[in-house]
Amino acid sequence: MPANVVLHPLTAAHQDFVWTALYHAIYVAPGDPPLPPEIVHLPDIAPYAADFGRAGDLGVIATAGDQPIGAAWARRMHGYGYVDDDTPELSIALLPGWRGAGIGSLLLERLLGELSGDAAQVSLSVVWENPARRLYERLGFVTVALEGGSATMVKRLR
Ligand SMILES: CC(C)(COP(=O)(O)OP(=O)(O)OC[C@H]1O[C@@H](n2cnc3c(N)ncnc32)[C@H](O)[C@@H]1OP(=O)(O)O)[C@@H](O)C(=O)NCCC(=O)NCCS
Repeated sequence: MPANVVLHPLTAAHQDFVWTALYHAIYVAPGDPPLPPEIVHLPDIAPYAADFGRAGDLGVIATAGDQPIGAAWARRMHGYGYVDDDTPELSIALLPGWRGAGIGSLLLERLLGELSGDAAQVSLSVVWENPARRLYERLGFVTVALEGGSATMVKRLR
């Protein structure tokens, strides 16, 4: 990981960056145009970020020189990766330019460690061709459903 990158708890004080990270978490296929920024406010997408810091929300933010560069967080919600009411859904993104340097792995490992005190398992939804799927598989996520080109993945925490 780059030497100046530091991990901290993600809190309600980071709400603006949670929206930014959510925008960057949405998969865009190679060659496709960028998504409009307002996409994060669509009814199916906004619940991933809205009012971050509610009871049960857990997250980690990475900063470089005090600037946020990425975040991973999880909350109980009925999203694309819904499994059951007890299973938080995980989201993660780094800003472009910070990817592929090990920061996402560290964010995930930190978050999974914190989640293990709170939940028996964690889930997520990933577009099948998103290279992020390999990272999830390395960390022990398994595909439990495949629909519409997206996989629902689950990792047991205890
Ligand atoms: C997914 C992501 C958080 C991983 O963090 P990272 O710091 O890039 O990952 P690391 O360097 O720790 O690990 C490398 C792995 O990350 C994934 N990865 C690397 N670059 C990626 C990219 N541009 N997009 C998606 N995944 C990527 C791959 O699984 C890679 O494993 P591989 O080398 O076997 O292909 C980051 O790449 C990212 O923000 N991608 C775009 C947003 C996204 O796809 N979020 C997940 C939505 S489900």
